[in-house]
Amino acid sequence: MKNLTAHLNTTLSEAFANAGLETTHAAVVPSGRPELADYQCNGALALAKPMGKNPRELAETILAELKKADTEGAMFAELSIAGPGFINIKLSDAFLASHAHGLLTSPTLGFPRTEKPDTIILDYAGPNMGKPMHVGHLRPTIIGESLKRMLNFAGHNAQGDVHFGDWGMPMGMIIAELEHDHPEWPFFEEGKTEGFPTESPIDIDEIGAIYRKAAARGKEDEDVRRKARLTAAALQEEHPGYIALWKLLRGVSFESAKKNFLRLNATFELWLGESDVRQMLAPMIDELKDKKIAELDDGAIIIRFDEEKKMPPALIEKSDGGYTYATTDLATIKLRTEDYGTNRIIYIVDRRQSLHFQQVFESARMADYANYELTHAAIGTINGPDGTPLKSREGAPPKLDDLLNAAIDKAREKLPEVGSEKAEGFTQEDLDQLATEIGVATIKFQDLHNNRNTEYIFDLEQFSRFEGKTGPYLQYSVARINSIFEKAGLDVANKGAPIKVTHASERNLILSIANFTDALNRSIERYEPSALCEQVYTVAQKFSAFYNDCPILSTEDEAVKASRLTLAALTRAHQLVCLDLLGIAAPHKMLTR
Ligand code: ARG
Repeated sequence: MKNLTAHLNTTLSEAFANAGLETTHAAVVPSGRPELADYQCNGALALAKPMGKNPRELAETILAELKKADTEGAMFAELSIAGPGFINIKLSDAFLASHAHGLLTSPTLGFPRTEKPDTIILDYAGPNMGKPMHVGHLRPTIIGESLKRMLNFAGHNAQGDVHFGDWGMPMGMIIAELEHDHPEWPFFEEGKTEGFPTESPIDIDEIGAIYRKAAARGKEDEDVRRKARLTAAALQEEHPGYIALWKLLRGVSFESAKKNFLRLNATFELWLGESDVRQMLAPMIDELKDKKIAELDDGAIIIRFDEEKKMPPALIEKSDGGYTYATTDLATIKLRTEDYGTNRIIYIVDRRQSLHFQQVFESARMADYANYELTHAAIGTINGPDGTPLKSREGAPPKLDDLLNAAIDKAREKLPEVGSEKAEGFTQEDLDQLATEIGVATIKFQDLHNNRNTEYIFDLEQFSRFEGKTGPYLQYSVARINSIFEKAGLDVANKGAPIKVTHASERNLILSIANFTDALNRSIERYEPSALCEQVYTVAQKFSAFYNDCPILSTEDEAVKASRLTLAALTRAHQLVCLDLLGIAAPHKMLTR
């Protein structure tokens, strides 16, 4: 089925052409005065000036053509000219009703899937071994997951890659520190090449503690730093004991990250890390030197950019032989092109890394590793009340776990106790599950509805409310419809009854749902889930108005009642699709204290 605005634009184009006019401006926008019209077309105004014509007269000609084409009055209820020459368009009730039916029967709510699917890797989350995931990983994870879902919905082949930070100096620091504390471990036995333990000697918290201890000792002591550098270099040379230990620690870190992602409803198709390109690094640098893309500079190896790019050179090998964040990112692009057939990469990463990505993208172009679109979808920071990036009391970025727990606790405070009348039929487990779904939704929606590239202030109090522009309010919009159907003893999946428009609130609801395709397109084109957040929120509001103005179950007229139930089912389908694209759970039932 055709998208509503696309349909109107085609009709307008025909009218413009029949009036002998150029069609570039034959397009509708939502009306600035929704009480008068559904859409308006400003094309006559745009054309009049260069043609030296009177815009109202041009608008008259277009309007006449529109009326001629709509002989039966099937599409338009009212066409008029307003102000200096806008054409106001009000659609007929019958046309809207039939459009709503089309939406209900379309598996994509009318969204046209792409005919040219891209193979896309979305690079998001990027947790680092040795450091617990913190607030800085939260937004990229949430936004990246949502963008991936949208791209797949649109028909692309989009995969999420977690791009684990599991290589380089921090690994040297952790292993050197463990060797310092436990020189007797088999991993450190001179000349040993096999038969190492198969279980990690330490857990995730201990890995974090060791890393912090290594960093603190390294700050004070050059010897500690030198040992860490040597260890990192030996690891780079595949020292068997170090590699065996590193693999175990990496496994522990993966498991811990997976737990976080599970709570956040984020899934990754690819569990690759910086280390997966480790064997490509040396040959790649040789190749870049041969191609005269990389050059020696004071013992280090760098890539210089054209003057006009106004970028400092990228360091790809330090003078001590160590590789950098840019080296692994560059090699990862090569890997993705060669092994995964990727033809688009989107990095959902903190905007403070912009220069890094510009350098890596430009290097990849120079080296011909990617002749396709590389995008850094830059993410703004989450700030505390003082306007600087959120910090815990100790001054470090708060741990992701702690933030989620705080939001879940807040949600739990609002739920009834197990065994109470309001929690009838709910076990403690059900209530815990509900608190998690609501708590995570508050964080996620808050995050997604703010513009991706701007910062926002973390205010748990504000966004865990059940009303207003919050995650729980949207979850509630679905649960309410579930309960209407339950009361009626009807199956919500039954989409039979014809829709009859009898009230302005019904029109408004249909028009808001019909905007789905445009909103999703905006989100996809701009890497901006906030557009879809606006959409799902608007529909929730229009549904509330409809619910107030148009009684459903108490309506006597059976046909009107059935039509309203169908509208409720359509609303529910729309909300469920949107929430799923945003990665937000939709509990069947919401409870309050
Ligand atoms: N590990 C990095 C960090 O914590 C994020 C990785 C982003 N992805 C990438 N390909 N560089 O900042």
